[in-house]
Amino acid sequence: MRRFCLALLSLSLGASACDGGDGSPEAGPGQDGQFDDGVAPGGKADTQGFEDRGYEATCILRLANSAEFETLDDDAGVWSVSAREIVEARAGGDGELGTADDVEFETLEQLDDVDWVGYFAFQSMYGYAEESGVCPKLGEEYVHAGEQEATELIIRRIGERMMREYGEGARPSTRGLHAKGRCLQAEVTVDNRELPEELRVGVFAENVTYPAWVRFSNGDPHVQADKEGDVRAMAIKLMEVPGEKLLDDERDAKTQDFLLNHTPAVATADVIHFADVIDLVEDDRNPALAFLSWNPFDIEASSILLAIESITKSIVNPLSTQYWSQTPYRLGPDSSAVKYTARPCDGEQPGPELDDEDPNHFTPSMEQHLEAGDVCYEFGIQRQTDPQRMPIEDASIEWSASESPFIPVARIVFSAQDFASEEQANTCQHLSFTPWHALPAHRPLGSLNRARKTAYSSISSVRHGLNGVPRVEPTE
Ligand code: HEM
Repeated sequence: MRRFCLALLSLSLGASACDGGDGSPEAGPGQDGQFDDGVAPGGKADTQGFEDRGYEATCILRLANSAEFETLDDDAGVWSVSAREIVEARAGGDGELGTADDVEFETLEQLDDVDWVGYFAFQSMYGYAEESGVCPKLGEEYVHAGEQEATELIIRRIGERMMREYGEGARPSTRGLHAKGRCLQAEVTVDNRELPEELRVGVFAENVTYPAWVRFSNGDPHVQADKEGDVRAMAIKLMEVPGEKLLDDERDAKTQDFLLNHTPAVATADVIHFADVIDLVEDDRNPALAFLSWNPFDIEASSILLAIESITKSIVNPLSTQYWSQTPYRLGPDSSAVKYTARPCDGEQPGPELDDEDPNHFTPSMEQHLEAGDVCYEFGIQRQTDPQRMPIEDASIEWSASESPFIPVARIVFSAQDFASEEQANTCQHLSFTPWHALPAHRPLGSLNRARKTAYSSISSVRHGLNGVPRVEPTE
C-alpha cells in the first residue's frame, strides 16, 4: 500500500494517510528478521528497495547464484548467517551444490524469501557485485523470467480482438496497434562524418541516399479522430538496403526499419509490464485508467506520469514533432548500444489552427507544411555510456541527452506529395513495420524489443491473413 500511496502523492491526487492498511507503519523487521522498508526513493516497484528486474537486481542475483560462502561472507561482507542460508538454498533439498536439484534464484523475491536475507544482505551484495564486475556491462542484455509468457499473452490478446472485430467481414483489418496512419515517401541521406569510426556500420557505413516509406501514426488500436489524446509515432522503412537481415523468413528483404514514438521513454519498463497493461486495455479500458488499476503494489509513479504524458502531449502537426526510439539497439561492437531520435531540422514549428470538427485534421496540417517547401528531419544516435543509469532492459528510463548527446547521422527529406491519395493510402495499409526488419548491425536490444520480434510478425500476419494480401517487403 505504501508504494501506491507514493504514486498517488506524486500525482497530487489527494492521498494523505499512507499506512500499512491496518493503521500500522509498514517499515519494521520483516518475517525473515531483516528490515523491509519496501519503498524505493522514486516510488518504483521493488523488493527491499531494489527495483524488480532492474540493473541492481540483476547484479545481486548474479552474485547470489554464483558466489561461494567465503566470497559472500568475507569479501562481500554479507552476515555469515545470511551467506550460509543463500548457499544452502542454492544447494537444494540434497544440501549439495553441483547436483541436479540445485536452485537458481530467478527473482529478487525468491532470494528475499530465504531466511535472514533481505535489505542488508542485498546492500552488501550489490556493492560487491559492482566492484567485482558481475553486473551487466555496456551493451549487455539480461533476460528475466516470464518474458515468453508475457509475449504470448500480448499476441493472444491483440490477435483475439482483431479476430473478434474483423473476423466477421469488416475489411480491411487495420493494424493490431497504431491503426491510423499516413505514409509519406522520403529520401534518407546518411552523413556519418560526426560518428565515431566504430559506429559507421550497417546503413550508416556509407554516405548514401536511401528511398524510404515513413508512416506517421496514432497509437490507438482503433481509427479515431486525430484530436483524441494518443501516442504518435513515426515508422521509417529504408529500401535498397543490401545484406542478410535478422528475420528468418525475411532474410533477403532489402529493408531496414526504425520505429519511433513521440516521447523519449515508454511507460512500460519491460514486456512483463507491457503485458499487464495490454491485458487491461484489451478489456476495453482507457490506457491511463488501466495504469491506475494496475496491481497497486507494482505501480510506479514515474510510469503513470509517462503514460499520461504519452497520451496528453499535444501535437498539431505530426510532420513537425520530435520522435524517439525509446528502446535500444546495437550499433557497432557488442559493447555498443544506442537509441535514436528524429527531430525536425528547424525545430518544432507552430502548426496551423486545427479544425476539431475534422476527424482527420492532421491531413491539412501536414499538406500545408509540405506545400511550403521540403520538410527536413535530422536522424540522431545516442550512445549508452553508463549501464546502470542508461539501462538496456528498462525502456521507462530516458537516457540523459546532456550526458550523451544525440549525434546527427542522416537527414530525412519529404517533398510535396499526395499522401492522402487512395493509392498511397492503400500501399500504406499493407506495409508492415517492425524493429526486426534489420541488419544484424542494428539488432534490437532489451526486453520490449525481444518481445516485439514475434509480436509484430504474428500480429501483422493476422492482418494480412484477414485482408487476403501477402506480406511482402516493398522495393519502391
Ligand atoms: C512489447 C512491446 C510492444 C509490442 C508488443 C508492440 C506491438 C505492436 C504491434 C502489434 C503493432 C502493429 C504492427 C503491424 O500490424 O504491422 C505496433 C506498431 C507500432 N509500434 Fe509497437 N509494440 C511494442 C512496443 C513499442 C515501442 C517501445 C515502440 C517505440 C518506438 C513502438 C512503436 C510502434 C510503432 C511506431 C508502430 C507503428 C508501425 C506502423 O506504422 O506500421 N512499439 N506495435
